[in-house]
Amino acid sequence: MSTPSILILPGDGIGPEVMTEVRRIIDWFGDKRGLKFDVSEDLVGGAAYDAHGTPLTDATMARAQEVDAVLLGAVGGPKYDELDFAVKPERGLLRLRKEMDLYSNLRPAQCFDALADFSSLKREVVAGLDIMIIRELTSGIYFGEPRGIVKEGNERVGINTQRYTESEIARVARSAFELARKRGNRVCSMEKANVMESGVLWRQVVTEVHAAEYSDVELSHMYADAGAMQLTRWPKQFDVIVTDNLFGDMLSDLAAMLTGSLGMLPSASLGAPMANGRPKALYEPVHGSAPDIAGQGKANPCACILSFAMALRYSFDQGDEATRLENAVNAVLEQGVRTPDLLQREGVTPATTTEMGDAVLAALDASL
Ligand code: IPM
Ligand code: MG
Repeated sequence: MSTPSILILPGDGIGPEVMTEVRRIIDWFGDKRGLKFDVSEDLVGGAAYDAHGTPLTDATMARAQEVDAVLLGAVGGPKYDELDFAVKPERGLLRLRKEMDLYSNLRPAQCFDALADFSSLKREVVAGLDIMIIRELTSGIYFGEPRGIVKEGNERVGINTQRYTESEIARVARSAFELARKRGNRVCSMEKANVMESGVLWRQVVTEVHAAEYSDVELSHMYADAGAMQLTRWPKQFDVIVTDNLFGDMLSDLAAMLTGSLGMLPSASLGAPMANGRPKALYEPVHGSAPDIAGQGKANPCACILSFAMALRYSFDQGDEATRLENAVNAVLEQGVRTPDLLQREGVTPATTTEMGDAVLAALDASL
């Protein structure tokens, strides 16, 4: 097989700084574990808009379709707030998701023991938490037509459309059941079947796919609002949660905060298998571009590093090496290395982004 390829899109804000650390990690796996990658880099989001007047050029889009995996930092910033919707930095990310057809977005919410006291919830509620939210990523209200702001009589009306086809629901349900089989074997599906037809169909299709193909997996259903409540009440009741694009956006931020820091959480967005058997894939930290701390060495690179661990697992079939990297991050936390987002006490000197990267590399060396 030829050398696997990775396209790096650092993007905006803290994206470039955290990605610098990831590149060092990628090089480590090449030097020390014989895992060579063909790495290229390009622009996305505001950075692409500044250079080309668009948040994602057609050439970058084409390159993303060719490579084995895309690693993205973050997009957006206040500088672009006034831009037209069509060229906002976020559109670059949404175009990648849509055109690569990355329908299954895996957002793990895992509580590292060393950080259990960072959660806004009590330690016993979050310690040992390990849940996976699977968010549908290419359809629903994010993309449904009609949409827009139109004039009706003498007032404006804002319109978005929630729309799901059977096949869109079925494929994301399958990906949730498949993943559950490798974990705790339980799936909870969330929608609003009590008020939305799309929710009624969602529940029907998930139930049908389950009965026909995955009856060995335990399935439950919850209204998404109750799901939010249960996530804060007793999150450990869940294993895999599968939900639509908008509910998934909200519930995954909620779940992220349970773990104490957005700076720790990775994600994978997966599509159908390519000719070489690997899924179309994009990996990105759940945190945003954090413009307020950009360029100051304050960003926590762990979420982006852990996103690369997910790439090792889901794109490159290197589950053991992914675990090695995750263990290295855990070891660094146990040692007490803390970027500012992980600091609770005064008087502790925070690590810079680079120092956090150094510590992870040292922990990787120690794992050999
Ligand atoms: C996310 C983000 C994005 C979304 C934005 C940046 C478009 O909030 O990945 O959760 O809404 O999907
Ligand atoms: Mg979001």
